[in-house]
Amino acid sequence: MDSELFSLNDRVAVVSGAAQGLGHATALAVAQHGANVVLVDRNLAGAEATAAQIESLGRQTLVAATDVSDPDAIAELFREVDARFGRVDFLGNIAGDGHLSKPEELSIANLHLVLQNLVVGRFAMCQEAGRRMLAASRGSIMNIGSLASSTALGRGHIAYSMAMGAVVQMTRELSTEWSHRGVRVNCVTPAQVVNPSLTARMADDPTLEGRFLRGIPAGRMGQPRDIMGLAVLLASDASEWITGAIIPMDGGNMAMNAGGTPGHEQRSVQSFRAENK
Ligand SMILES: NC(=O)c1ccc[n+]([C@@H]2O[C@H](COP(=O)([O-])OP(=O)(O)OC[C@H]3O[C@@H](n4cnc5c(N)ncnc54)[C@H](O)[C@@H]3O)[C@@H](O)[C@H]2O)c1
Repeated sequence: MDSELFSLNDRVAVVSGAAQGLGHATALAVAQHGANVVLVDRNLAGAEATAAQIESLGRQTLVAATDVSDPDAIAELFREVDARFGRVDFLGNIAGDGHLSKPEELSIANLHLVLQNLVVGRFAMCQEAGRRMLAASRGSIMNIGSLASSTALGRGHIAYSMAMGAVVQMTRELSTEWSHRGVRVNCVTPAQVVNPSLTARMADDPTLEGRFLRGIPAGRMGQPRDIMGLAVLLASDASEWITGAIIPMDGGNMAMNAGGTPGHEQRSVQSFRAENK
């Protein structure tokens, strides 16, 4: 295989949510393949810890405590990126919160907050990065959507689902307008990936993890590291003809009909491997 295929040497990646979870894993993955990384997270100490890991690989970093729901702060962030690196090759558009509420109880103020965070914020990041990528005629954006981009989760996810649906359409529109000018835009839609808020919800409701696993034929919850390969693929020239794609990262969840039976109910992947050694 061409050893340059996945090289990100000398490229600059901007990654939001870089203090933990999917953002941390994305930042680390692109740095391991050669990129210098702008680490964006309102948790400054967490982003600085990620920066220290990346600098130990010999890459350069810029850390910013930007709130990605604030377009003015995002514009300022990209001015800092211009001054420091003068280019943006990859955007990992990852940070952003939802809000849980029954549809009949959701306040319009909370709906606005979620849309501001996940739709306006993600768009402002795409717009600032995209303007620079268009000027250079090259670049790649990885938006993070969710299973909730195209299926309903229930359990109070109405605002989150409405926003994540918009992220998928944002991806398709931007890809359609920008890909002939060298800028690719894709969306990764994860199923349940372990993080602190999910862990707390599973602790509150002991039936939840089992219900999640019944929807995941691969037989385990996602881990942040599961995004590392996809992030490198989408950031690199290896995915030159992949744009406008909605890419499930979900252990087979979206492929399975709601009435389908995942094989792991009979045995785990680990026991399957042990039996077939
Ligand atoms: N974990 C999952 O199961 C899952 C599934 C599908 C989609 N997603 C989406 O992926 C994204 C990342 O998920 P995760 O599991 O890595 O979450 P996480 O909670 O582990 O990490 C999110 C990070 O983003 C930062 N952040 C949140 N809002 C911010 C803001 N407004 N400005 C700056 N930083 C902010 C937090 O400080 C945190 O470091 C979220 O948008 C989430 O909705 C997650």
